[in-house]
Amino acid sequence: MNILVTGGAGFIGSNHVRYLLRNSDDRVVNLDLLTYAGNLENLAGCEDDPRYRFVRGDIRDRELLRTLLRQEAIDSVVHFAAESHVDRSVEGPEVFITTNVLGTEILLEEARAAGVQRFVMVSTDEVYGSLGSEGRFTESSPLAPNSPYAASKASADLLCRAFFKTFGFPVVVTRCSNNYGPYQFPEKLIPLMIANALEGKPLPVYGDGLQVRDWLYVEDHCRAVDLALRRGRPGAVYNVGGGNEMRNLDLVRLLLDRLERSHDLIKFVADRPGHDRRYAIDAAYIGAEMGWAPTVDFATGLARTVDWYLAQRPWWEKIRSGAYTAYYDQMYGPAGRHAGDARVQ
Ligand code: NAD
Ligand code: TYD
Repeated sequence: MNILVTGGAGFIGSNHVRYLLRNSDDRVVNLDLLTYAGNLENLAGCEDDPRYRFVRGDIRDRELLRTLLRQEAIDSVVHFAAESHVDRSVEGPEVFITTNVLGTEILLEEARAAGVQRFVMVSTDEVYGSLGSEGRFTESSPLAPNSPYAASKASADLLCRAFFKTFGFPVVVTRCSNNYGPYQFPEKLIPLMIANALEGKPLPVYGDGLQVRDWLYVEDHCRAVDLALRRGRPGAVYNVGGGNEMRNLDLVRLLLDRLERSHDLIKFVADRPGHDRRYAIDAAYIGAEMGWAPTVDFATGLARTVDWYLAQRPWWEKIRSGAYTAYYDQMYGPAGRHAGDARVQ
């Protein structure tokens, strides 16, 4: 297969590119705009593989997509590219709509026009909104997104449904719970808390810290996405989850214990507006249809993740200092300009 991965320089996308190069014979073209969240260091070593190509560009850029899809004879698309941070969507929702909604629609149209045979939309459990203390989301739970991020993902997710129903375009949607692991951008809970603890900075816990998330190790998510690509039923939605619920405060305490830092670093701060209380995924369907189940238990995954952030301190220190974006601006021009065009003739 010739697979286009969008957003392959981000956290899950870069893990997925590595997963594909390791576990398949397929060719992988990575299209990423390199926004603040995209980092080519996440892909160090991949460029040596002749089956891999990186293109800097925007999923909203029709001309670029048209050229790239045909030039690379793309038959499959795995769509990760998105604005992904809830807090940023509270500060400025617009780019979430242009990238996540419009970008997905443009990508769907161009992929369909180019005769793409398989399209996986990487959606999220956040489209379902918030749970009380009981129950889990199934694929038929109503969509009730609460943040601008979640609403933009729900819109993209439903556009995929519409492209299947209206045009018979073979889209498969995955809705996964919170991921963790190597290369996660240090604005998200786990890497932020690790980095702050190591630098002796306060660990900001929102509200009472009793919100619950269902954590899944990133490679288990990549395997689910890959199964969805190869064996997923067109038009189907698959929930993906860790079966591993944890309260934020308990998780932060666990991280501090593992890093041998004092719980006194915890600082309760104002809650996130519209903060979802609890997510929990019922992943029985993907288990029954494709035999998927998480393989990395939370203790192992968290230990691996903490060790990775300890060993890769220069990776996250550079990000936190902003040095890596200055480098891309110098190399390609500021993010938002379609610097990828020049490379796709
Ligand atoms: P991320 O923010 O780390 O990476 C997003 C990537 O998309 C970045 O490399 C960025 O440069 C790129 N990008 C952004 N706008 C673009 C555009 N217009 N054109 C091309 N590239 C663009 O995000 P992540 O955590 O790796 O999440 C990846 C996907 O998985 C997202 O769609 C997200 O909604 C979904 N998801 C994430 C989680 C999670 O826990 N992180 C859980 C479920 C689903
Ligand atoms: P996050 O990693 O942003 O993922 P999401 O909002 O997509 O679930 O946050 C995970 C949980 O941690 C969420 O309940 C918000 C909380 N949180 C904090 O308490 N403090 C923080 O500094 C961050 C970033 C998140």
